[in-house]
Amino acid sequence: KETPSSLIMIFGATGDLAKRKLFPSLYHLYRKGRLGNNFAVIGTARRPWTHEELKENVKDSVLTSIGKSENIDEFVSHFYYQAHDVKNTESYIELKKLADKLDEQYSLNGNRIFYLAMAPEFFGTIAEHLKTDGLNDTKGFKRLVIEKPFGHDLESAKTLNAQIRKAFNEEEIYRIDHYLGKAMVQNIEVIRFANALFEPLWNNRYISNIQITSSEVLGVEERARYYETSGALRDMVQNHMLQMVALLAMEPPIKLSTDEIRSEKVRVFRALRPIEGDHVKEYFVRGQYGSGQIDGKDVPAYRNELNVDPASNTETFVAGKLMIDNFRWAGVPFYIRTGKRMETKSTKIVIQFKDIPMNLYYNTDHQLAPNLLVIHIQPEEGITLHLNAKKSGQHMETTPVKLNFSNTSTHGINTPEAYEKLLDDCLRGDATNFAHWDEVALSWNFVDKISEVWENKTQTEFPNYASGTMGPKASDQLLEKDGFFWWPVT
Ligand code: BG6
Repeated sequence: KETPSSLIMIFGATGDLAKRKLFPSLYHLYRKGRLGNNFAVIGTARRPWTHEELKENVKDSVLTSIGKSENIDEFVSHFYYQAHDVKNTESYIELKKLADKLDEQYSLNGNRIFYLAMAPEFFGTIAEHLKTDGLNDTKGFKRLVIEKPFGHDLESAKTLNAQIRKAFNEEEIYRIDHYLGKAMVQNIEVIRFANALFEPLWNNRYISNIQITSSEVLGVEERARYYETSGALRDMVQNHMLQMVALLAMEPPIKLSTDEIRSEKVRVFRALRPIEGDHVKEYFVRGQYGSGQIDGKDVPAYRNELNVDPASNTETFVAGKLMIDNFRWAGVPFYIRTGKRMETKSTKIVIQFKDIPMNLYYNTDHQLAPNLLVIHIQPEEGITLHLNAKKSGQHMETTPVKLNFSNTSTHGINTPEAYEKLLDDCLRGDATNFAHWDEVALSWNFVDKISEVWENKTQTEFPNYASGTMGPKASDQLLEKDGFFWWPVT
C-alpha cells in the first residue's frame, strides 16, 4: 500500500515507551521511506517541554537505541510538542489548533493517528475528549492506538471499551499486543498455512501437546505500582500468551483478511474450556520469586523489591494447562508458562508430536525421541524440527537430528522490531495484528475466573521459586501428571 500522509499524536511523549520504542520505530520507518514526507508528530504530556526539548529527546532516543542517526535533523523537524492536561478541555483546544495548522502545513488530508502511550486510567477520558473537543472530527482517517493494559478485568475493560467506542468505531481502534508484531509470532500462520507438511498433522491425531514458554530474567524493576495490581496472569497471560495460543490453534481462515483471521481467533477463545472454582488448582499454578542468583549476582525476593508489599500475594509466575474443546484439539493440552526472574529470557513454542504406532528400533539403547517442532520467537528467531535418523555405522541405530532454520541469520539485523511493524500496519490501516474487542473480552472472561479464585484464597506459600530457576515445582508436576515434561528452552 502507498505511504499515507498522517498526523501522529503521541500522548505520553515524555514517557518510557515513547523513548524506547516509538521514536526509534518511527525513525526506522522514516529511513525506509515508509513514512514519506507528509507526516508530522505531535508529542504531548504534562511536562512543559518546548518543541526543541522534544526534538532533543527524540534524537537522543534514536541514537541510544540505534547507534546512528543519519538524516536525524530532517526527521526531527517533523516533531512538535504541546504540554497537555488530559482532563482539561482548554488543553485539547490548544492541541486541535496545532493539529489543524500542521494538517495544512504538511498536507495531511485530515488523517490522524492518536497513540495513547501513557497511564491506562486516562485512556477513556482522552478518547472522549478527542471527540467532544473535535480533534477526531476531520475529513481523513482517524485511528486510536491504545496500549495495554486494556482494563483490569472484564468489567473494567467493558467500561473502557464503551468509553472509547463513543468516540471511535471498532475499525478505528488499534489495541496493541506487541507480541503480534514479533516476526516469529507472525510466522506461526505462515508455517502452518503455507506448508503442505504441517497442516495435515496439526490436530489431535498427531500432536500430543503444545508448550509455550515466555520466560524473563528481569524482575519487576520500577513497575511495582502497576505490577502489584496486575501480576503475571493479567500482565502476560490475558494478552500475549492467549494470543499465541489462538494463532496456533485457529482454523485456516478462508482468506488472509483482517476480519477472517480475527474471527477464527475468536472461535478459539470461544472453545477454550473455562477453568473455574476447584478446577483452578488442577489446571493452573502460580508462583512468586524469592531471592536467588542471576548471572552470579544476588538478587532480592519480589517481596523485597521497591514499592512491593512485604506480604504481597502477587504472582510473578504462571503455568497453566489449557484445553480447546473443539474437534481439532479435543484431548490436546496447551501448556503455557511465563514468569519473571527465571533462568533465561526466552519465548519458545514446542509442538510435540505423538509417538509413531510401533517402534522398530528397540535394539537401540534409547527410546525413540518424539518429533518436535520448535518455534523460536526470541531472542533467536527460527524453527527447529527434531527428527530421528540413522546413526552412522553398521547397525540400524537411530540418532536424533535437528533441522534448523534461523530467521535472524537470513534477514540479518534488519528484522524490524515489533513496534515498527505495528506502527506501519496502523499507518496503512491494517488492524489484523491488533486485538479485536471480542478477543479482549473473551480472554478477560477466561482469566477472571482464575484470578477470582486466587484472590479469594489469601493463603499462598510465596515465595515458591528461587530467582534464576524455571519456576516452582508445581509447574513441573502439572505436566508430569499427564505424562509429559517441559522441554528445555535454554
Ligand atoms: C509486557 C509486560 O507486555 O511484556 C512486561 O507488561 C513484560 O511485564 C513484557 O516484561 C515482555 O515483553 P518482551 O517483548 O520483552 O517479551
